[in-house]
Amino acid sequence: MTLVDPKVIGTSAERLDAHDKVTGSALYAFEYPVEQPTYLHPILSTIGRGRVRAMHTADAEALDGVLAVLTVFDAPRLADTSDGELAILQDPEVHFRGQFVGAVVAETPEVARHGASLVRVDYDVESHDTDFHSGRDDLYAPEDVNAGFPTDTEDGDVDAALAAAAVTVDQVYSTAMEHNNPMEPHAAIARWTPGGSGPVLTLHDSTQGVHSVRQTLAPMFGLEVEQMRVIAPYVGGGFGSKGLPHAHDVLVVLAAQRVDGRPVKFALTRQQMFALSAYRTPTVQHIRLGADADGRLTALSHEAIVQSAKIKEFAEQAAVPSRLMYSAGTRYTTHRLASLDVPAPSWMRAPGETPGMFAAEVAMDELAEACGLDPIELRIRNEPDVYPSTGRPWSGRRLTDCLREGARRFGWADRDATARAGSDSEWQVGMGVASATYPANTSPGSVARIVYESDGTYTVQIGSVDIGTGAWTALTQIAADALGCPLDAIVLQIGDTNLPSATVAGGSTGTSSWGSAIVAAARAFRDQYGTSPAPGAATSAGTPDNPDADKFALHSFGAHFVEAHVHRDTCEIRVERMLGVFAIGRVINTRTVRSQLLGGMTMGISMALHESSVNDPRFGHVVTQDLASYHVSTHADIRYLDAVCLDDVDEHANPMGSKGAGEIGIVGAAAAVANAVRHATGVRVRKVPIHLDDLLPG
Ligand code: MOS
Repeated sequence: MTLVDPKVIGTSAERLDAHDKVTGSALYAFEYPVEQPTYLHPILSTIGRGRVRAMHTADAEALDGVLAVLTVFDAPRLADTSDGELAILQDPEVHFRGQFVGAVVAETPEVARHGASLVRVDYDVESHDTDFHSGRDDLYAPEDVNAGFPTDTEDGDVDAALAAAAVTVDQVYSTAMEHNNPMEPHAAIARWTPGGSGPVLTLHDSTQGVHSVRQTLAPMFGLEVEQMRVIAPYVGGGFGSKGLPHAHDVLVVLAAQRVDGRPVKFALTRQQMFALSAYRTPTVQHIRLGADADGRLTALSHEAIVQSAKIKEFAEQAAVPSRLMYSAGTRYTTHRLASLDVPAPSWMRAPGETPGMFAAEVAMDELAEACGLDPIELRIRNEPDVYPSTGRPWSGRRLTDCLREGARRFGWADRDATARAGSDSEWQVGMGVASATYPANTSPGSVARIVYESDGTYTVQIGSVDIGTGAWTALTQIAADALGCPLDAIVLQIGDTNLPSATVAGGSTGTSSWGSAIVAAARAFRDQYGTSPAPGAATSAGTPDNPDADKFALHSFGAHFVEAHVHRDTCEIRVERMLGVFAIGRVINTRTVRSQLLGGMTMGISMALHESSVNDPRFGHVVTQDLASYHVSTHADIRYLDAVCLDDVDEHANPMGSKGAGEIGIVGAAAAVANAVRHATGVRVRKVPIHLDDLLPG
């Protein structure tokens, strides 16, 4: 692949949106100034399963300032109800506790909220089932798992290899349900206006993909996609929870049909987000490893049980990373789903890899111990030369480089001495390591347009969304190098369906997919107009096919190092130091990429020690519904933290030579914490979050 000559790519260019964000002039979805806004407050089901028998709306309707009350009996009809999560208010059925069963629209948010509280709902209650556990007798195998992977794989006779193995590990690991909790809640403003050829729907939405929201929602409202516009210039985080439109988008659009063309504003409260935004499935994972006396894997079995919802299947691909991480004589992976009366699980930062690699990388630590090997050495001994199932060469793997470089920088050679040195203090000290991986994919279908302006600048248009990752800056850098001009000659436009189509900011594919389209457009522009274009010269091009994607296994790799301190009396756990070393191809922006990686690692510490959405099966909902009871790591929890990238270029991934940076930072991070806690205390914890009482046995 012909790579772009990196000039501003690879620098630490400051965020172009920094000033607007810091000064508050960057507009988020709910803040967009609209004429005569109205405000929506939803009504949520208070039962876990059953049906709405009646809704008493008179008190709400009598309230001064209430404009409309929507119920399951009288809400506008949708043209398409095939999506069980999105088809709300179309019938009286209740599928989970917290489901939308109505809404009040009013002149102010306060009146809307008060009005919603006055609507009484009668239910026919049925018993619900929200109890996720591995002993259920109704677990089933889906047709395939997310991202289109096969549900099960079997390569050789794992049971026979385990029986013959010199050393074995056979354990069950579990991870908690987690909610994404971006700082900006899910929010939208919807407005219907008359258009030349029918109504036009405008949605200011906090989303990871304006075009994908339009593609999903327009047909549900009987619209051609051209009749709908979605706008999202700034988004305050998503972590996957805004990767797809959710039911709140449908509700606000339905409500906007009832207020005579006035715009309706709707932001979920933090509490409502625990039923209505997105969440990571809890998992139970059974791992069996067999090795010869030298620690070479002869058997690798990874069986994952995850949660799904009766309203919509979601099959998290938790065992998939075990198909590629290490070489193994025999291999077996499976996924089974528990389908419950719960909201549909969804994407949360590195879905699949994050829970899967917790289990897999703690199991590898256990195997290292059982073999009497250093955990880094064990991993290096099991490096696969090629992608195990396909035999394809790696476009660039470098896991060994990440492990060795991290060990050197972190002082891994002093691991046992450091632990011993702490033995007299009130804190026990230990070090742990874990590997990381994430696919380096490019999504097809984005288009970039470049226009040369009379003031000598280039307008670069693409409907991408910057969810806080730094896309505004990275895409401007890519455009500058692709056109061979300085950064300030580029005027980027993103976040609007009026711009050329772009794929969703998800799967760590954004920079690669959109950047490839920008490079293709820049090259076409130069071919067409040379270096002295006339003002108005314009060209468009799409993300080209990558022929190398079928020849190489495209993955990023990394290694996490953690120093954990555990208090002898209280069992308080502190991650005192953490280092991540990553091979992610060429880094487009050293500042924003480091920030992405540190963010992922912080979320990994949070997963290891804090985050847990607690479902109460008696009531059928998540009871930790705020940031006091659902603890997310804060500054006080994060001490020394650093992320470094190997000097790396992947010439098979895309014309920038880059891979993705958004998700790999969290993968394996929680395992490194658990492994460090084991080294410090001697207690092996096979679940996250690790609580103080889990350490009492030691
Ligand atoms: Mo990311 S969880 O793929 O939006």
